[in-house]
Amino acid sequence: MYTSLNRVLKKADELNMAVGAFNTHSLEMLPAIISAAKEQGTPVIIQTSVGTANYVGHRNLVSVCESMSDQAGIDVVLHLDHAKEYQDIKEAIDAGYSSVMFDGSSLPLKENILKTQQIIEYAKKHDVSVEAELGIVGGTEDGVAASEAEVKYTDPEEAVTFVQKTGIDALAVAIGTNHGQYKSKTNINFERLKEIKEAVDLPLVIHGGTGVKDEDVRKVIDLGIRKFNVGTELLVTWTKKSKELFGHTSENASLRNNVVPCIEAVNEVVQGKIKLFKNLN
Ligand code: 13P
Repeated sequence: MYTSLNRVLKKADELNMAVGAFNTHSLEMLPAIISAAKEQGTPVIIQTSVGTANYVGHRNLVSVCESMSDQAGIDVVLHLDHAKEYQDIKEAIDAGYSSVMFDGSSLPLKENILKTQQIIEYAKKHDVSVEAELGIVGGTEDGVAASEAEVKYTDPEEAVTFVQKTGIDALAVAIGTNHGQYKSKTNINFERLKEIKEAVDLPLVIHGGTGVKDEDVRKVIDLGIRKFNVGTELLVTWTKKSKELFGHTSENASLRNNVVPCIEAVNEVVQGKIKLFKNLN
């Protein structure tokens, strides 16, 4: 069913696994992600940036997620990723998104708390879940950027205050990952993640999932990661495949000849990620 983030993360917590949160950049990428989750028999989180939501249309995204979750018989969450403005969050909630992220990570703690409280008040009235971020994850994600100098690990003591004062559903942590890192792999600060998990009792979120080594996935899930964000790897897979195809397909052949193989390639990557996120023995 079409559902909210806190429901799927609660189930993930009971099973010590993570739910994959995959960024789509277009309506065409959606079936690839949802069908992969169906084949793996897990819930899935579809994420869009504010830019993608405006491009595709919020209500179009909501409708497709609702109808595909019904047809596939799996839980689907539609989540707004890295929104920095109250108006963007309100627009997504009003259109039917079931989860939002307010990214106040570049603000001083008190201001991040105040703005997150404002978001929570509106979201809770609509049974919408809220993720927020503390510390600063590096790299660039669809226009949202942090330079190396700005990167800041999440402080466990600040996390306690932040979670108590806001009542968020999930906390995005900065533990060494970077958005958009697809040519190399990340060195994760496991010690910091352990300290955060011991300090706060709520689902934790990892950003920059593309750069995480396969062998580190189990370790971070065992340390409380319940939502695992992956974007760039899907984008790169789609773009590489379409470059290959557009180079030689006939210009008057149906467009699906160029699109279906991209969907299949992304489906395969998503299934591989979900297998890891299940955290099986
Ligand atoms: P990547 O694009 O690096 O996989 O990160 C995705 C993400 O964290 C979305 O917020």
